[in-house]
Amino acid sequence: MSSLRKIGFVAAGLLFALSACSKNTTSSSSTASSAPQSSAAASPAASPAAATSPVAAAANTAGASVYNTNCASCHQATGVGVAGAFPPLAGNPTVTGVATKVIHIVKYGLSGAVTVKGKSYNGMMPPWGSTLSNADIAAVISYVRSSWGNAATPVTAADVKAVAK
Ligand code: HEC
Repeated sequence: MSSLRKIGFVAAGLLFALSACSKNTTSSSSTASSAPQSSAAASPAASPAAATSPVAAAANTAGASVYNTNCASCHQATGVGVAGAFPPLAGNPTVTGVATKVIHIVKYGLSGAVTVKGKSYNGMMPPWGSTLSNADIAAVISYVRSSWGNAATPVTAADVKAVAK
């Protein structure tokens, strides 16, 4: 009788240990499987909408390299700027607004107070008309107007040439 009871206790203990163990594995495997899920959900959002035409893609590549060389140091590679110092170009209605105004800013520079997305800036944007070609200015403006969620029409070198001081 007592030996049967002992076996019963041991069996109960074993069952308990087994169930505790299996609970552990299920909980740890569910944590592990949630990580790939969230990264898979993030990756489509991270990749920007693909350029639709080869011409637009080529202009975008040229614009991206002009941007990364000349503009990213202040406005940042992702166009978010630096609060209080360099305004964001991403989600900036001036950037996606009237093209000739954007051309004027990039070609001849900008200084004085501006308010962008509710924050004020009063810095100095250097003029690029003397260091970049009209084609490079056109490419970089087309790039900033169509990157990071911005969706505005591209500009041409002829457009840039036509904007007088
Ligand atoms: C040395 C830092 C610096 C660099 C490099 C720079 N910018 Fe700027 N940019 C500024 C500052 C500062 C302002 C805001 C000027 C002001 O406060 O009046 C500005 C403003 C702008 C604006 C106007 C934003 C608005 O809402 O009025 C545009 C467009 C712009 N920059 C595009 C560019 C492009 C394109 C390049 C590269 C060719 C570039 N910037 C390079 C500092 C810089």
